[in-house]
Amino acid sequence: MRFYLVMLTISLLLLTGCTPKELGNAMPAQIPELTVTGVPLPTLSPQSIEQGQTVYAAYCADCHGDDLQGETEWKVQNEDGTFRSPPHDETGHTWHHGDLTLLDAIRRGGARFEGADIGGTSPMPAFEETLTSEEATAVLTFIKSTWPDDIRILQQEATLREQKLEN
Ligand code: HEC
Repeated sequence: MRFYLVMLTISLLLLTGCTPKELGNAMPAQIPELTVTGVPLPTLSPQSIEQGQTVYAAYCADCHGDDLQGETEWKVQNEDGTFRSPPHDETGHTWHHGDLTLLDAIRRGGARFEGADIGGTSPMPAFEETLTSEEATAVLTFIKSTWPDDIRILQQEATLREQKLEN
C-alpha cells in the first residue's frame, strides 16, 4: 500500500515538473524502505502450514498456548529466574526476528544463550534432535500463516536484513 502511495507521489511530482535528481534529494529516507517492502510476500504452502500446525500442537502449544497466545503475564519472569513463554501471535516479538534467528531458537532452544548474560534462564527446549529441518520450517510457516499481511511484511524485512548481514 505504502509502495503505491510513494509511486503515486513520484508520478505527481514528475507531472509537476520535478526532475528525478530533485526528487531523490527530497525523499532520501524513503528509498531503502521502498526496496525492501517492494519484495512481494511469498505464498505459504498449505501442506507446510498443515504439517506445522500438527507439530505446533504436539510440541509447542503446551508452553506457547493453543492459540499462540503465550503464557499469562509472559513479560514477567518467574521467581526462579526462568522466562515465561512468549506468544507467537502478533502481540509477541516473534515477528521482530528474521527466519534465521527463529529457526535457530527452535533448533537450539535456551542453549543458544549459553555463556551470554540475558538476565535469566530460558526453559525453551532444543528441538534439533526431535524435529527435522522440514518440520522446523513447517512450524514457522504455520506461525506465519496466523499473522496479518502487515506483520508478515515487517517480519520479511527482518529476514531480508539478516540475509544481507550473512552475505
Ligand atoms: C517448555 C516450554 C516451551 C516449549 C515446549 C517450547 N517453547 Fe519456545 N520458548 C519458550 C520460552 C520460555 C521462550 C523465551 C525464551 C527464549 O527465547 O528462549 C521461548 C522462545 C521461543 C522462540 C523465540 C521467540 C522470540 O521472539 O525470540 C521461538 C521461535 C520459539 N520459542 C518457538 C517454539 C516452537 C516452534 C516450539 C515447538 C516446536 C517451542 N517454542 C516449544 C518455551 C517453550
